[in-house]
Formats: sequence, structure tokens, C-alpha cells
Amino acid sequence: MEETAKQDVLILAIESSCDETAAAVVKNGREVLSNIISSQIEIHAAYGGVVPEIASRKHIERINQVIEEALNTAQVTLDEITAVAVTYGPGLVGALLVGVSAAKALSFAAGKPLVGVHHIEGHISANFIENKELEPPFACLVVSGGHTHLVSVKDYGVYEILGRTRDDAAGEAFDKVARALGLGYPGGPKIDRLSKEGNPDAVQFPRAKVGDSQYDFSFSGLKSAVLNYLNSCEMKGIEVCRADVAASFQHAVVDVLVEHALAAAAEYGFDKLAIAGGVASNGALRAAFEKACAQNNIAFYHPSPILCTDNAAMIGAAGYYEYIRGTRSGYDLNAIPNLKLGER
Ligand code: KG4
Ligand code: ZN
Repeated sequence: MEETAKQDVLILAIESSCDETAAAVVKNGREVLSNIISSQIEIHAAYGGVVPEIASRKHIERINQVIEEALNTAQVTLDEITAVAVTYGPGLVGALLVGVSAAKALSFAAGKPLVGVHHIEGHISANFIENKELEPPFACLVVSGGHTHLVSVKDYGVYEILGRTRDDAAGEAFDKVARALGLGYPGGPKIDRLSKEGNPDAVQFPRAKVGDSQYDFSFSGLKSAVLNYLNSCEMKGIEVCRADVAASFQHAVVDVLVEHALAAAAEYGFDKLAIAGGVASNGALRAAFEKACAQNNIAFYHPSPILCTDNAAMIGAAGYYEYIRGTRSGYDLNAIPNLKLGER
């Protein structure tokens, strides 16, 4: 291991909220010494989505190995770790429980503090790892398979939710439309790839507005519009260009995400905007944000794709800032499937 000074804070982080069993060692919140991810995607792909019972069982089979590998790769012992951080919500309850139980056992056995971390706080904090200069306040759009949140990051660990989805998450819409196009699971990366061959203006899909809240999102109407379009083409015997449908759908999602985030940045006066979560690795989304932010003199931040989808390094980054704020969890820490951001 490279030099670690006595005052360095080393976080052993664990993430198991969905279908990735992950562990990482992160130094001082921003330096990743190891980031081990064991993905179950291939197993769940056969069922067209994540099967909670299978996810829990696979986490149990893999968690100890993944943690051991994270420590070995970082070349640190459990003794040298400062604290153990773990995602305790939101997510699948059985999946979360595996990580929470492992973290409690390690914390107790090694006599190290335990820090429960919110999964979305992890996604947001992924931005700190590669952008060493990024500090709050900034706005962050979190777009994943389970969440679509526009968040004001007021300080480390201090958040205000400006907007959220009223129905489907952005990633969920990608997955459902991909299924309708026969692309398989997970749909996001497949739509991203196929869209490169399509015309984003071929089909005009709706850009939903949510009446009473300017920054809320709604994607179920868009998903239905795509399904209706595919059905009506089939009924009329018109051959569908899947690349055009994928690109037009993606264009509609990206338009709404960028428009809401930029409007919030203008109203709240943010000069920094970050994106996070699985959908944040989408090529068209990144390009659109880069352009819109440059036009509006806003600095734009995004993590590398590996830090966008679920991983434990982001939990280590968030865990560090929670640790130095004094957050400590007891051995009664439980998995909370619907944990709200900012609640403990
Ligand atoms: O953050 P994540 O790994 O898990 C959750 O916390 O939900 O996000 C997974 C989601 C899936 O819906 C997946 O289809 C989507 O992120 N995704 C993408 C891309 N890569 C992953 N969506 C659009 N474009 C991508 N390149
Ligand atoms: Zn996630």
C-alpha cells in the first residue's frame, strides 16, 4: 500500500442493495484503494429483471470473498481500517440485510465504528472521487434504476430534494422500453448503444410536465407512448426501425432531465451541476449536459461509468464524510428498504 499517515481515514465500505455485491477501501473520502464488484446481472438477465430472493442468496455466497478481496487489493488489514460503512437503504430488504449484517459483524469483531450510509448519498458522493476540487454547494441529478432525484447538495451530508419522479425512475423507463424493443435486461446500456444508429427526431414522443411541481418528473406516460407506437405500427403492418425508436425515446428522457436540472440551477443559482447513478453513464445524457452547462457557464461533473452503477467506492466516499461529521450507527442498524434521503 502507498504511504498512509496516522491521521488518514480508511473506510471499508460495503454495498449490497440490489444486484451488485461490492466492497471497497477508500482513503480520506476521495482516494479509492480498491473497488471490488461482483455483479449478478447475468443471472437476473434470464428473468428480465432482478429477482429479490436470488439476489439475497447470491450476496450471501459472495460477500465474504468480495470483502476479503477489497482488503487484499488495498493491502490493508482490518486493524488498519478506521471505520466500516455500509448501505442500509433504500433497496431490496433481503439484499441490504446481507451487507448490513456483514458490516456489523466486522465492526464488532474489529472494534471499529459502524457508519450506515444512504444509497443515494453514495451515488452523489461518487462525484468526489474523480473530481478532487468538487465541493458543496452544487446540484446533483441522481438517475438510476430505482431513483430519479434532483438534489441540492448544501453541504457534505446535507441535502434538499428539489424534484423527484412521480412514477417510474429514468432507468426503469429505459429497462421497460428496452424490453418492449426486445433488447433484454438491463436495457439502459443497450438503448444507449442502439441509439447511436438511430435518428433521435424520427418519432416525437411526449416530454411530460408535472403540473404542480416544476422539478418533478414523470416517465410512465413516455413509456406508454412508446408501447402504443410499437403496437400501432404492428397493427398497421409498418416495420419499426428499432434504432429510431430507441434514439427518439432516449432524446425525450434526456430533454426532460436536462431541462429540469438547468432550470433548477438557474433558480437556485448553482454554478456546479453533477449527475450520478446508472443512467448517468448514458452517452447522450452526458453530451447534452456538457453542452447545456457550457452554454450557461455551469461547471459539469460526472463519475466514470464504473462509479455510476452500483459500487462500494461511492459508499466509502459518502461514509467518510458521514464519519467525520460524527455519524455513528449502533448494532441495531437495520435495513430500511424505503429510507428517505436526509433521514436517519
Ligand atoms: O445505479 P444503478 O446501478 O442501480 C440502481 O441504484 O438502480 O442503475 C441501474 C440502472 C438500470 O436501469 C440501467 O438500465 C441503467 O441504470 N443504465 C443506463 C445506462 N447504464 C445503466 N441507462 C441509460 N444508459 C446507460 N448507458
Ligand atoms: Zn444505485
